[in-house]
Amino acid sequence: MEKNVIVGQSGGPTAAINSSLAGVYRTAKDRGAKKVYGMLHGIQGLLEERYIDLADHIKTELDAELLKRTPAAFLGSCRFKLPEIHEDREVYEKIFSILDKLEIEAFIYIGGNDSMDTIKKLSDYAIITGHPTRFVGCPKTIDNDLALTDHTPGYGSAAKYIGTSMKEIIRDSFCLEYNKGLVTIVEIMGRNAGWLTGAAALSEGEDCEGPDLIYLPELPFDIRKFGERVKKLLAKKPSVVVALSEGIRTGEGKYVCELGNSVDFVDAFGHKQLSGTAAFLANYIAGELGCKTRAIELSTLQRSASHAASRVDILEAYQVGGAAVKAADEGDSGKMVVLQRLSDDPYQCGTEVKDVHKIANDEKLVPREWVNKEGTYVTNEFISYVRPLIQGDVSPVMVDGIPRHLYRPIELVRR
Ligand code: F6P
Repeated sequence: MEKNVIVGQSGGPTAAINSSLAGVYRTAKDRGAKKVYGMLHGIQGLLEERYIDLADHIKTELDAELLKRTPAAFLGSCRFKLPEIHEDREVYEKIFSILDKLEIEAFIYIGGNDSMDTIKKLSDYAIITGHPTRFVGCPKTIDNDLALTDHTPGYGSAAKYIGTSMKEIIRDSFCLEYNKGLVTIVEIMGRNAGWLTGAAALSEGEDCEGPDLIYLPELPFDIRKFGERVKKLLAKKPSVVVALSEGIRTGEGKYVCELGNSVDFVDAFGHKQLSGTAAFLANYIAGELGCKTRAIELSTLQRSASHAASRVDILEAYQVGGAAVKAADEGDSGKMVVLQRLSDDPYQCGTEVKDVHKIANDEKLVPREWVNKEGTYVTNEFISYVRPLIQGDVSPVMVDGIPRHLYRPIELVRR
């Protein structure tokens, strides 16, 4: 590389997103980039000329190792949708003038399907105007819903956390007996894709029964049938544990969480804030069956638990960061790095690049055949797919009994 690289992080964070940032930084430096800039809060921050020189923050090997173990976007993230090029060229002129000023040769964006929309539009604009900067996407999302890649960095660590937490929740739920039984409902992220919720089945093994029911958002959810199923189970056992997605919807397409308190926050991509599904259903079950219920929303814990990250995930996140820089350096633009699984056992995976136009704004869902006939549990194929992704650990650097992170003082003033 002869000039500079800029990298941004966008969308919901993960426990592995900073490992990709470390991979981008290391590879860009190794390939000769003079400076590696980090956009603060993605493209939204870049538009306000907010960026840092990563060399000021990653000064030693220890810094790089800490970065890999630090959850949440080190650079800050955003959910920002660029206008269509024909709608507002001024925004693009502004971005490209900033890129020119910083002498940017490669623009790397670490994100999910919404963020790939940014790579798509910027690379299209570069083609239209004959601009030399290359734009490459680096996959990231706990939701695992990106098309054309076997899986996404961030998913393995979140799946590992969910499998582990489910096991701990199940263990806890059996130790205290209540008169009419206990129903525990665990709400898991993933919006419209059930990859994360299905990972609750990883808790099942020789020393754990696993959850009783798993409901993915891909299939319509029938509240009445759900109540009947729970009632039958409760007649046989003192504790019932249910894992379900934040995005489950009724047959009419209404999010279950909207049946309780109204959901009025909608982000720039039109996504409603999904939250409260477990609480709503726990109330429903308590009302119908008169038993004790507990609603657990794993919420941000599932995407920020870097103390329990998967080694495979952290290494692959680093690898895709490096592969994105390599692709841009070798002339690719308008592409995203994908992971290609070569085998399950032994697990082997490589990288490739694919056209970002075929990835942006799309959602890869769990195949119907990976869910049982009743729509209440995942199949063995699902488990065989996810199990290799949760293998191995990354020891946190412990200081005074708490994991140490790479710290960047945040701007406390709201813009
Ligand atoms: O996009 C990833 C994700 O973690 C989804 O699973 C979830 O629905 C969403 O982000 C939550 O986003 P936010 O933190 O903006 O509410």
